[in-house]
Amino acid sequence: MEIKIPFLDLKAQYYSIKSEIDSAIQKTLENSSFVLGPEVENLEKEFASFCGAKYAIAVNSGTAALHLSLLALGIKPGDEVITVPNTFIATAEAISHCGATPVFCDINEETYNIDENLIEGKITNKTRAIIPVHLYGNPCNMDKINEIAKKYNLSVIEDACQAHGAEYNGKKVGSLSDISAFSFYPGKNLGAYGEGGIIVTSNAELAEKCRLYRAHGENPKNTHNVIGYNYRLEGLQGAILRVKLKHLEEWNEKRRKNAEIYTKFLNGIVITPKIREYHKSVFHVYAIRHKNRDKLREFLQMKGICTGIHYEKPIHIQNAYSFLNHKISDFPIAEKVTSEILSLPMYPEMTEAQIEYVCNSIKEFETLKFGF
Ligand SMILES: Cc1ncc(COP(=O)(O)O)c(C=O)c1O
Repeated sequence: MEIKIPFLDLKAQYYSIKSEIDSAIQKTLENSSFVLGPEVENLEKEFASFCGAKYAIAVNSGTAALHLSLLALGIKPGDEVITVPNTFIATAEAISHCGATPVFCDINEETYNIDENLIEGKITNKTRAIIPVHLYGNPCNMDKINEIAKKYNLSVIEDACQAHGAEYNGKKVGSLSDISAFSFYPGKNLGAYGEGGIIVTSNAELAEKCRLYRAHGENPKNTHNVIGYNYRLEGLQGAILRVKLKHLEEWNEKRRKNAEIYTKFLNGIVITPKIREYHKSVFHVYAIRHKNRDKLREFLQMKGICTGIHYEKPIHIQNAYSFLNHKISDFPIAEKVTSEILSLPMYPEMTEAQIEYVCNSIKEFETLKFGF
């Protein structure tokens, strides 16, 4: 079947800003600052200011951003870090890269984010930090999470890899905790033309540590203070991301508008996303829920509509984490949600006619009463 509606359309976005991107690339080629350099430094300043934070440290992936955030906070072997099982595996991997153990906490059935009422039950004398994930670009209940962290003297790292520009009580995510991590993977709301990520914090000491670890622990030149990493962002990505950052608010607004249209059409037919009052999602993903998800997905595929599942198998039952000895039923809400969610096409350049086509196809599936 010919693809009528892709899951996302990175080409359409490139063509909408082609001249700006092409000249930014050209400028970088002429400057030949290929690793870090002025474009990356300016991106750091601009992104920190965008988030309402003091510092940003650009790295070469969201995974690296999470890893360095945890290292800077002193997370080490034997420590426990609380997070959710329904996230991209990188959230848990970053904890494991520090030698610490991810401790999963179930989620809220409406928001799909960490259930803050269950966090205290997961805290032990080894717990050092909490990583709330702003899943699909929808902010977590940060006031409650920070309150628990304060009570137990824990650090909070926002996994904001899907949430560039999302707001909670009028403040941008990334400025709501000790330190936060963003991904610039190409399909993200702010995506590079390759790998990329950034750490955001207002804590000077944490920022300094992240900078040190990012580039082989070197400061000054030829003096290596800690065993670091090569997590540097490329200059070309810095230049591209600076161009795209200028458009981010407008693109996020378009995503919100698209989400509104989807919800208007689909309300009462499938379970649509619930965004709490004072939370402003950026709809990195627009996920519906349907009891017959796999059949619906197959039907939409037949109609030329590409969909996704974020994420199909929660981390606690992935082979990589079998050593934690979890079983199916340990996190019932995450498991239920995971079996029903379906991510619909979502990108700023989508037209209302395309959204209508997706919604009408879902309605058509409903009229077939799963008989197809
Ligand atoms: C929630 C979440 N955490 C972490 C990551 C890791 O980011 P990256 O792929 O840039 O390493 C991603 C990106 O896929 C993500 O969606």
